[in-house]
Formats: sequence, structure tokens, C-alpha cells
Amino acid sequence: MISLKDYRIVLVGGAGFIGHNLALALKERGAQVEVVDGLDVNNLLTFSSSDCHSGNRELYRGMLNDRLDLLRENGIPLHIQDARDYHMMNAVLNQIKPQVVIHLAAVAHAALSNKDPHSTFGHSLRTLENVLDYSRSGVEHFIYFSSSMIYGDFKSAEVTEQSPCEPLGIYGVLKLAGEKIVKAYSQVFDLPFTIIRPSALYGERCVSRRVAQVFVESALEGNSISINGDGSDRLDFTYVHDLVNGVIKVIENENSKGEIFNITYGQSRSLEDMAELIREHFPEARISYSTKDKLVPDRGTLSVEKARKLIDYEPQYPLEKGFVEYIKWYKSIWPNKADVVPVGIGEYRKSGQAVSPKQSKTAEQTTGTA
Ligand SMILES: NC(=O)c1ccc[n+]([C@@H]2O[C@H](COP(=O)([O-])OP(=O)(O)OC[C@H]3O[C@@H](n4cnc5c(N)ncnc54)[C@H](O)[C@@H]3O)[C@@H](O)[C@H]2O)c1
Repeated sequence: MISLKDYRIVLVGGAGFIGHNLALALKERGAQVEVVDGLDVNNLLTFSSSDCHSGNRELYRGMLNDRLDLLRENGIPLHIQDARDYHMMNAVLNQIKPQVVIHLAAVAHAALSNKDPHSTFGHSLRTLENVLDYSRSGVEHFIYFSSSMIYGDFKSAEVTEQSPCEPLGIYGVLKLAGEKIVKAYSQVFDLPFTIIRPSALYGERCVSRRVAQVFVESALEGNSISINGDGSDRLDFTYVHDLVNGVIKVIENENSKGEIFNITYGQSRSLEDMAELIREHFPEARISYSTKDKLVPDRGTLSVEKARKLIDYEPQYPLEKGFVEYIKWYKSIWPNKADVVPVGIGEYRKSGQAVSPKQSKTAEQTTGTA
């Protein structure tokens, strides 16, 4: 068992939804955690740009600033760096000298990837190759974030890590390519690696507008819950804290090296189930149905038996627990839109609420190393 105490761990793409939650948990367990992130993909710069027309832009900028506040308050250095830049990434990583590298940077959204394959390739694969090239000489453990999307349409209700991979669309194909590149680096340079396949995550400070978030926001806005398809589609919804605990097990257990793991809740649920849970908290919410996109694969359960056996992974959050916590959290941060005033480049505050000196510094973080 490897102790996390003082273990030097870098998270590339670590100011993202998964990354910052993982960084905080690793730091709490005594690791020396540092984050590298460009902040311009699904992050602060995206939602601060005048091109951004998201209706909830101010709310999301508040969540993104909260992430940076949490990293800073917990003593986790943030290096604001585009990982597509080979030389700068080498310089930053040489300064950190990580023992473990966790690669999360990507355009983490299937629909956006199909709209802009070129940019997705750069953020997902160029970044990966740069980071692998640094890691091949001396990093003790390289952890790559893949996705359940590499399976494509599930051929049965449950897939294992051995199931065939036939991804649909740009995102899944690039994720699978990433897995193969990681394995090739391991074959050629003996780089110890683990590949993680998560699915359908939800949790605090996510701004990606995946199904769980869209359902909750629709209910809070008084709009109908719009289900793509007839509601029978099943996903292995996973609360981010389960995934974070799974990654910690991967780092702690030497026998995770050279392995691929599904890290999910391990039991699929239908969209209808999720909508019903919403209705328990918003009884007046209506449900509507629309056509399902042909590039969205039919999915189901990702078996976590291998992770259970090899690294003692035990998920804790069924939808009834994790999603309910998430709904409560969303209600607690949901603003009265009439009260919202934008403040500075990356800040959201309610009117009448003072911006403290600490808060007013957050905008500066976008241009330097925090
Ligand atoms: N969230 C999910 O449900 C889910 C499911 C399966 C797999 N994944 C994978 O997990 C990883 C993290 O996902 P997430 O949900 O946290 O996504 P996210 O969009 O919240 O985070 C990605 C982070 O990577 C950073 N990034 C992107 N390109 C970069 C670059 N060129 N240089 C530096 N930083 C860059 C972004 O700024 C962002 O902070 C991704 O690889 C994603 O494909 C996520």
C-alpha cells in the first residue's frame, strides 16, 4: 500500500470539475498536490468571454471562482498553463517533479467534440502526448482519464473492461486513441500506468450541463424536464465523490498498475428514474420528451467488479443518496436571478454582497500562477 503522505501528485486539467474535487481530496490525505490548467476549456475564460451566451453564465463563473478559492485556501498551487505547449509544459513539470501524473485535460463533452474535432484533438491528444513525453523518464505512475464512451453502444446491459470498444463520434474515438497511446508509452518506455473509465458524473461545481445538472436547473427554473428519447435509456450515474475515492484507491494500490478500471457507481438507472427523483423534490415539475441524437450510444452498467477485487473499491452513493445531496446543494446556491449582478471578470455575487479583498483577487489568477 502506497502512502499518500507527501506524495508529489500533479493534475493536468486539475481545475476542471473532476480535477478540483480530486485535488482537494488528495490534499486532505496529505499529498503534495499541484494543478496545471489553462482555464480556457469549459472553465473561467470560456464563461468570461463575450462569446459566451449561456443563460447561467454568472452562476457558473461563481462556481468556477469557488473552485479556485478552494484550491488556494487549501494550499494547492495552480499553474495556469496551456498543456498543448510542449516546451512550457516540460518547464512546469520539471519544476514540480511529480511522482504521479493524472491526465484529465480534454474537451470533456461529446457534442462539443463533434462540433469542433480540431480543437478537441489539440486539447485531448496533443496535451496527452506532451505530458506522456515528460512522464516517460521517471514518473512512478501515470493515470489517464478515459470514458465509458469508448464502448459505443453497449451490446449487453453490463460491460466489463474486456468488452469490445466501438465508439461513436469524435469524443469516444479520441478517448480510445488516448488509451492506446498511453499503453504504447508503457510498452516502449516502461511507464507504469492506469486507465480509468468513468461515466455520467454529477456533483458540486460542475458547469458541464450534463443530464443531471440540466434536469435540476430546469426544475429550479420552473421549466419542464426534457428527456431525450422515451426515458428508458440507462446510464451509470456516478457521484463525483465515488470516483474520487476510486482514484485514491488506484494511487494507493500498487496492483492497479498496468490495468484498466471502470470506476462508476456500478449500476445503471433510467432517465425516467432520475426525473422521478427530481419530482420528489419539485412536485410541480413537468416532464417532456424529445428525439434522441443518433450519436448518443445506448449504454447501461459498467461493471466495477474488477476494481472491487483488485483495489478494494466500494462505491457509496446510489442515486437516492448522491443525487439527492446534489439537488440540495443546487438549491442552496441557486440565486434569485433578480438579485444577481456581475462583478469583474470572473465573479458572481448577489447584489448588496460585498466583494471581499480575497474574492477580488480571483480575476488576477487568470493571468498568473497562483
Ligand atoms: N465528467 C464526466 O462525466 C466524465 C465522464 C467520463 C470521462 N471524463 C473525463 O474526465 C476528464 C475530466 O473531466 P471533467 O468533467 O472534469 O471536465 P472539465 O471540462 O470540467 O475539466 C477539464 C479541464 O481541462 C482543462 N484543459 C483542457 N484543455 C487544456 C489544455 N490545453 N491545457 C490545460 N488545461 C486544459 C480545462 O481548462 C478544464 O479545467 C476528461 O478527460 C473527461 O473526458 C469525464
